[in-house]
Amino acid sequence: MARRILVARQLPEAVEARAQRDHDATLNLDDAQYDADELVRRAAGHEALVICSSEKLTPEVIARLPAEIAIVATFSVGFEHIDVPAARERGLVVTNTPDVLTDATADVAFLLLLAAARRASEAERVLRARAWPRWTSRWLLGTEVTGKRLGIFGMGRIGRALAQRARGFEMTVHYHNRHRLPPEQEAGAVFHADPDDMLPHCDFLSMNCPATPETHHWLNAERIARLPDGAIVGNAARGAVVDDDALIAALGSGKLAAAGLDVYEGEPNIDDRYYGVENAVLLPHIGSATVETRDAMGFKCLDNLDAFFAGREPPDKLT
Ligand code: DGY
Repeated sequence: MARRILVARQLPEAVEARAQRDHDATLNLDDAQYDADELVRRAAGHEALVICSSEKLTPEVIARLPAEIAIVATFSVGFEHIDVPAARERGLVVTNTPDVLTDATADVAFLLLLAAARRASEAERVLRARAWPRWTSRWLLGTEVTGKRLGIFGMGRIGRALAQRARGFEMTVHYHNRHRLPPEQEAGAVFHADPDDMLPHCDFLSMNCPATPETHHWLNAERIARLPDGAIVGNAARGAVVDDDALIAALGSGKLAAAGLDVYEGEPNIDDRYYGVENAVLLPHIGSATVETRDAMGFKCLDNLDAFFAGREPPDKLT
C-alpha cells in the first residue's frame, strides 16, 4: 500500500523513481536545504521521512515532528545527526544504510592515503597551472606506501575493507577498536587496546570511527606528537574526529608529511586555513559517491520503509 513519504533531499533518479512508483512520495526537486522549521512544516501529512546527514534531528526537532511520522530513514550510514535516544523515547523508528557503502568509502580512504603520500593534488595543481618545468629527479618526491605500517582507528566494516586494500600494498596493519576482532576478521592485523599505544607504529593513520562524544577531536596535538615524524593521516570518517588546529599546525611544521581529508567539521564551510595547506589532499565528502553505491543507499532506505509498513522489522533499524 502506498504510503505518504517526504524525501527531504534530492536522491538519485532511480531511487526517486521507485519511491514515486511505490508510494505517495513528496520529492525535493530543487534539492533545497530545509531548516528545522521548514522540515517540520513539510513533514505534516506524511508518515515517513527520508533524510540525509544534512538534516539535523535534535531532540527539539524530533519533539516537533508531526505525530503521524512513524519512521525516519537516513540516506547515510552515519547517524550522528539524529538524536537516537530522543527518537527512541518518541517511539520513532530510525534506520540507516550500512554495508552498501563499505567498499566505496574504503576506496576513498585508501585513495586519500595514497594521494597524500604521492602528493597527487599538489602535482595536479602544478600541471593545471601550466607550470610543469620539466622532468627532474628531485621534484615532487613523495613517500612510498608499499610495505609501510598503517594504523586504523575504528575497525568496523569500512576499517576492515581498508585493511584489505592495504594488505594488497603489503602494509602491516595495526588497529584500535572498542572490541578486539575475531582472528578471521583481524586477518593478521595487530590489535592495540589503547589507541595511544598504536600511534608510534603508524607511518599512516586512518580515521574510520563514528563521530561520538568519545571520538570528538580525538586526533589532537598530543596524539599527533605520538606519531612518527613524517606520518601521513587520512580521514574519511567524520570531520569532528580531528582537531583542525592541531592538524593544520602539524602539517605546517612538517611533523606530518601530509594528510588526506574527505570530511570536515562544519562542512561544507571548512576551516579556511585548509585552502592554503599545500600538503593536504582535500575532497568534498565523496566517500560513498558512486552511482552504484548511492542507488544502493536509496534502495536500502526504501527497503527499510517497505519492511516497516508491511509490519516487519526494518533490516537496518537503529531504534
Ligand atoms: C554516510 O553515509 O554516513 C556518508 O558519510 C554520507 O553522509
